Amino acid sequence: MTSQGDRMHALQWDDSMSIGVEEIDCQHKQLLEMVAETMRSLETGSQKEEVGLPLRRLCDYVIHHFATEEARMAPETYPQYDLHIQEHIDCSMAALDFLADFSSGKQVNIKDFLIFAQDWIKRHVLGTDQTLGEHLRSRA
Ligand SMILES: [Fe+2]
Repeated sequence: MTSQGDRMHALQWDDSMSIGVEEIDCQHKQLLEMVAETMRSLETGSQKEEVGLPLRRLCDYVIHHFATEEARMAPETYPQYDLHIQEHIDCSMAALDFLADFSSGKQVNIKDFLIFAQDWIKRHVLGTDQTLGEHLRSRA
């Protein structure tokens, strides 16, 4: 298991992260809540199984969330389509690689992964997803 060390700081959703599209804002809140839940299970649990479940749920939800966003993008009018898809692919690959290592029993640092995931979500939601929000609102 990873060292317990300092407590991880779970990021709270706030209105600055809103992209003005309710379905996607709700999923972003859910993602942060799932990161926080996995952090809690890592801090309180001592067994690999205890963190495995929330960790898998989180990775599944990341993939589901990206699919939701991508289904709503119109490639012909959304200028950041390729960039946005590429960011999703990069994050999905990182999450699936990590999960494969974790599942195969390799030594992995779950804490580092959760901090990476949380930072990635924050940066992506405050950056690339904002342009998606503008795109979707302009089409509404
Ligand atoms: Fe996105």
